[in-house]
Amino acid sequence: MSILNKKTVRDVNVSGKKVVMRCDFNVPMDKEGNITDDMRIRGALPTINYLLQNNASVILMSHLGRPKGEAKAEFSLVPIAKRIAELIDKEVLFADDDNVVGENAKRMVKNLNTGEIMLLQNVRYRKEETKNVESFSKELASLGDLFINDAFGTAHRAHCSTTGIANFLPSAMGFLIEKEIVIMGIAVEKPEKPFVAILGGAKVSDKIGVIKNLLDKVQVLIIGGGMAYTFIKAQGYEIGNSLLEEDKMELALELIRTAREKGVHLILPVDTVIADEFKDGANYKTVDIKEMPNNWIGVDIGEKTVNLFEDIILSAKTVVWNGPMGVFEIPSFAEGTRKVAHLLSLCEGTTIIGGGDSAAAVEQLGYADKMTHISTGGGASLELFEGKILPGIDVLGEK
Ligand code: 3PG
Repeated sequence: MSILNKKTVRDVNVSGKKVVMRCDFNVPMDKEGNITDDMRIRGALPTINYLLQNNASVILMSHLGRPKGEAKAEFSLVPIAKRIAELIDKEVLFADDDNVVGENAKRMVKNLNTGEIMLLQNVRYRKEETKNVESFSKELASLGDLFINDAFGTAHRAHCSTTGIANFLPSAMGFLIEKEIVIMGIAVEKPEKPFVAILGGAKVSDKIGVIKNLLDKVQVLIIGGGMAYTFIKAQGYEIGNSLLEEDKMELALELIRTAREKGVHLILPVDTVIADEFKDGANYKTVDIKEMPNNWIGVDIGEKTVNLFEDIILSAKTVVWNGPMGVFEIPSFAEGTRKVAHLLSLCEGTTIIGGGDSAAAVEQLGYADKMTHISTGGGASLELFEGKILPGIDVLGEK
């Protein structure tokens, strides 16, 4: 698939059309149902505004959470409709049907004028959605004349509302998907060198595909976060009670060997913050990576490790970062992640933050506006970095 051959919303006539648009409005919410980060909603606005300005009627759809085919109030899209309305300063009609394409939705669609916008209920209220059942894809398609997919965060899922619907309507991508794949695709396929990848997060198993793909492209691969301890243990050092994937130790050694063969500089932490308990208020200290005592848990990279990264990050022309360096949700263990974010903010090259935890960390630590690009997709950006074809993009119409 050449992504560049796929149609974008610019390549289709939207005027006078009823456009069914898939967004990823799967946003974090607090216990009271308040949206705590609306980056994904704001990400969809350029396409929404373009459609409205070009005389389309817009029918939005999304999932929220994993209600598993049941109508559960905590996963209702009512708060999403409100937030979109605030952001575009325009009424957003809400089709409150537990079966998503119900009587309300059908009536509203029928009466929807050009320049008007509505939102369907959570598509995962229907059990068919995640199974990509044809009948539900047809129901969704029956609402409009055209399908626009702008849900980058869900583009790695082959569901009714992301891929199935495209079998029954002409389709194209929105501006958010276009931006994500252009920026991240170019960064990974034709990066300006030196190209540095920083990978963290809890598990090696989540990142195997990414590491393997990136080892063919990067000059430097930095590994931090919980996954680093499996590499350290595999090299014969004690890691106390730190996170370990025993069955990935052999693989870790193989990745170290492959990096050496390919001339990639693979950097692991040289020191680490350890804590006596995995909680806020625990005792903690920094030790050499080769001197981790029993019973303590590795929770962050240490200062010497950050110093090791400094010149590498500052002189990089392209940096891709996915996965925090430590348990950044606990302030005492957030320093490594914060300092890496700070270094990226000073880097004059292209800086790309894969979605999910690293995007949340960069936002939370106040560096969001200093990065070239923060992806709205966690799993989706990882799969893109793995070199995989995302089904929600693959299925779209060709130019
Ligand atoms: C995400 O948050 O990664 C996307 O919205 C996909 O959600 P899912 O993992 O529940 O499919």
